[in-house]
Amino acid sequence: MIKNQSKKDLSAIMVIFGGTGDLTHRKLMPALYNLVYDKLLPERFAVVSIGRKEKTSELYREEVFKSLNERSRNKINPEYWNKLKNLIYYLQFDFTDQQGYEKLRICLEELESRLKTGGNRIFYLAVAPEYFELVVQGLHDHKLSALSGAWTRLVIEKPFGRDLITARKLNNKLNEVFDESSIYRIDHYLGKEMIQNIMVLRFCNTVFESLWSNKFIDNVQISLNEKHGVGTRGGYYEHSGAMRDMVQNHIIQILSLVAMEPPVNLKTESIRTEKLKVIQAIEDFTPEHLKNNAVFGQYGRGKIDGVPVVSYREEDRVPADSTTETFVALKLHINNFRWAGTPFYIRTGKRMGKTSAEIVIQFKSLPDILYFKEGYKQEPNLLVIRIQPNVGVFFQFNTKDFSTHNDIISAKMDTSYFNPALGNTPEAYERLIYDILRGDATLFSRWDEIEASWLFADKIIAYRGEKKFDFPNYEAGSMGPYRSFELLSKDGRRWWEI
Ligand SMILES: NC(=O)c1ccc[n+]([C@@H]2O[C@H](COP(=O)([O-])OP(=O)(O)OC[C@H]3O[C@@H](n4cnc5c(N)ncnc54)[C@H](OP(=O)(O)O)[C@@H]3O)[C@@H](O)[C@H]2O)c1
Repeated sequence: MIKNQSKKDLSAIMVIFGGTGDLTHRKLMPALYNLVYDKLLPERFAVVSIGRKEKTSELYREEVFKSLNERSRNKINPEYWNKLKNLIYYLQFDFTDQQGYEKLRICLEELESRLKTGGNRIFYLAVAPEYFELVVQGLHDHKLSALSGAWTRLVIEKPFGRDLITARKLNNKLNEVFDESSIYRIDHYLGKEMIQNIMVLRFCNTVFESLWSNKFIDNVQISLNEKHGVGTRGGYYEHSGAMRDMVQNHIIQILSLVAMEPPVNLKTESIRTEKLKVIQAIEDFTPEHLKNNAVFGQYGRGKIDGVPVVSYREEDRVPADSTTETFVALKLHINNFRWAGTPFYIRTGKRMGKTSAEIVIQFKSLPDILYFKEGYKQEPNLLVIRIQPNVGVFFQFNTKDFSTHNDIISAKMDTSYFNPALGNTPEAYERLIYDILRGDATLFSRWDEIEASWLFADKIIAYRGEKKFDFPNYEAGSMGPYRSFELLSKDGRRWWEI
């Protein structure tokens, strides 16, 4: 649960473009309900949801109620639902229709004068990326974006561009209307509790931070695996692939938190500056280098939990000869004093044998001099930060086996627990919406971080585009292509499946 730490006046109106969409129903509304439940929404607050279909606010509220019953982590309590219900309004208009923005202006002015929200506005773009620029232009043209004496914040979902050029173009457009400090670029992974806990684990524990470098760490593994295939999102995924969907954003953000230097304080810009330095220090990739250090895959048919599933090329809205990657594994180095020489292995895939998001820190082994036994290799110390579905920390260390005279066994200390809410958990959106209200952008990506991560990802995407891979090359339900295992085994290492 998020603690109410702020005494600031959070009064505002939140406008959701895409109020009838999947994201709003599955994530944003349950998050708002749980914020009401936890008494974190301000007294003076309203939500205006926009969609194309004609319907009354009453009907829209009923649809939201249905979604909440299916999705909310807290059971629906009539008292809290009534509270939220009365805050929700529905407005019908097509983003391409200029009169719609006028309707929105009138609606906002009426609500602001009635609810005394002080003109503070959040514009949440829960819409397909092709609408981002159009909507922002509409907000500008109809003078919806800047009221004197009030704040306005723009929230933008991923994907932020599809390469550096489109991301820059989008950013320039946003900057014509909103300054950088008003733009909240969502990366829902950053809203997850365990991601925020990376900094606490590192900077509040002598035993970890003092060993957190190439001197003591053998390698770092970041794996984001999903059992799911692309489902109904084949059309989107076909133009994205694992590099754009997972690596350029979530994995790079996690990597930067794991590897960054301690910030001078916990202020947003101090943290973001340290994260940026990590992304900028990632080694430069040449095609020759990628040949040996990148693995791409696409799932074929197989079984998930014993149930047969189709291959990626047989999924809805995916061409039968698709060359889109559903799996990526990479070995990379961060060329700075702390990390030079320590490999970071990253891996993400769909239709994998398990759903898990984990960071494994493998510490260097001690020399095999004492307690040496023919044919026996001591296990290394491992620190595993589990993000989902298990949430918590696992630590492996060596100890004596009390049942024998001399044997050493590895003991496993596990503080993690199972969290059944998979994917971008509602808790992440609760935290993120609350932070937007408070004006705390720490868990959102700054433009220069996005720019640096596209610089990194573009090279890999360009390389993949030029090569012909023999897809499909891994069976659904497996842990990815054979070459992904080779990537580590040729270094004398392996992926840890803890
Ligand atoms: N769904 C997720 O879990 C998820 C996760 C991460 C990021 N995202 C991102 O979030 C955004 C929204 O995704 P989504 O899955 O919610 O999409 P979606 O289910 O397709 O919803 C799109 C929304 O946009 C509205 N819309 C589309 N064209 C419109 C127009 N011309 N005028 C007015 N409204 C229009 C739709 O309204 P009507 O159809 O009712 O008119 C609907 O409310 C995307 O950028 C996506 O990449 C989604």
